[in-house]
Amino acid sequence: MARLLNAEDFRGAARKRLPKGLFEYIDRGTEAELAMADIRHSLDRIKFKQSVLSGQSQCDMTTELFDRSYPTPLIVAPTALAGLVSYDGEVKLARAASRLQIPFCVSTQSVTSIEGIRKGAPDSELWLQLYVWKNRELTWQLLDRARNAGVSTLVITVDTPLSPKREYNQHNGFSVPFVPSVRGVVDVLSRPAWLGSVMMRYSMTSGMPSYAHYPAEFKTAITRDAVAQDVQIESGLGWDDIAQIRDRWSGKIIIKGILSEKDAVQSVKAGADGIVVSAHGGRNFDVAPAPANVLPGIAAAVGEKIAIMADSGVRRGSDVLKYLALGSRSVLVGRLPLYGLAAAGEEGAFDALSMLMDEMHSNLIFAGAKNLEDFKKNAIASSGHPQRE
Ligand SMILES: Cc1cc2nc3c(=O)[nH]c(=O)nc-3n(C[C@H](O)[C@H](O)[C@H](O)COP(=O)(O)O)c2cc1C
Repeated sequence: MARLLNAEDFRGAARKRLPKGLFEYIDRGTEAELAMADIRHSLDRIKFKQSVLSGQSQCDMTTELFDRSYPTPLIVAPTALAGLVSYDGEVKLARAASRLQIPFCVSTQSVTSIEGIRKGAPDSELWLQLYVWKNRELTWQLLDRARNAGVSTLVITVDTPLSPKREYNQHNGFSVPFVPSVRGVVDVLSRPAWLGSVMMRYSMTSGMPSYAHYPAEFKTAITRDAVAQDVQIESGLGWDDIAQIRDRWSGKIIIKGILSEKDAVQSVKAGADGIVVSAHGGRNFDVAPAPANVLPGIAAAVGEKIAIMADSGVRRGSDVLKYLALGSRSVLVGRLPLYGLAAAGEEGAFDALSMLMDEMHSNLIFAGAKNLEDFKKNAIASSGHPQRE
């Protein structure tokens, strides 16, 4: 792993390891991929103040969130099908997160169930990301399962009313459920190490991978067609639904996918404990604003009332710090641990996250900060807009 020194190295290793269809599924955006470029630009234009002779050679990154203390303000974001990137991928991500004492948010669309992940990573702090299914009874059953598996926090994703247009998936012959195509089969055969260590291993143990949270009667292997209507994501979700979930879930509720002050204020009214200011990594709505551009306004509107988290585009430790400086308390990372997972399983995910923490630490030292609160008070030198000094 010595040569994987930055996010681009991890990404390159993932590209070599995974079939093209799967690599592009985790790596790319939607439509013309303008949102991805805009997210990058929105972060790159921010500069921190440098502070010298601070007498500090260490910086404390301890973060308080929902009455708990964490050694770093990172959370592993929910990512569908992480179990295809590596055998038992979700368990490996949970273990890597647990070693760093940070939460791992399990996707509704994971390959290993919440119970299976709990068994494989007993000490991990697991959150569940919820896509509300058309059939509410089945959705409530999933909440019960999460509660029984010791999940404290529910992350309701609200920015995916329908499947985004990702043409590259069709070009690559990559679809869920998989529909075998010549291109798809050739692609998979071109990565024999992945084929042997992931797909063949599943087929010899638990069988072909499937969306593990689907109730048994609807479970379809991801190579099979026809996903029942009942477990399709509800496209007509409204604030009433959030109120209903609030009544049923006594733990913390975070609403993920907020990009406007109006929706942030509404989240507070709906009884949420937190929000994630997120553009879904540029994967859903190609003309959505970049989180960095709307975060300060959202923080000013609801920052005193609710915990604000952010994500999208984190590739360097300084990116995490930028979201913190703009008003976020913690930051979710999606692709980076997935690249690590593809490159070297649990160790790879652990190394990618550790690399991020090292970069955060060195940036904080350059900024002369002794802890995160100290840093946030006076961090931003310029945000790319003309300054009125
Ligand atoms: C392969 C992949 C699958 C994802 N699946 C989900 C999902 O099931 N639910 C969800 O709320 N977000 C999902 N996301 C979005 C992430 O939770 C997160 O918002 C995004 O990845 C952050 O951007 P980053 O990848 O640049 O860090 C997914 C992202 C990726 C890359």
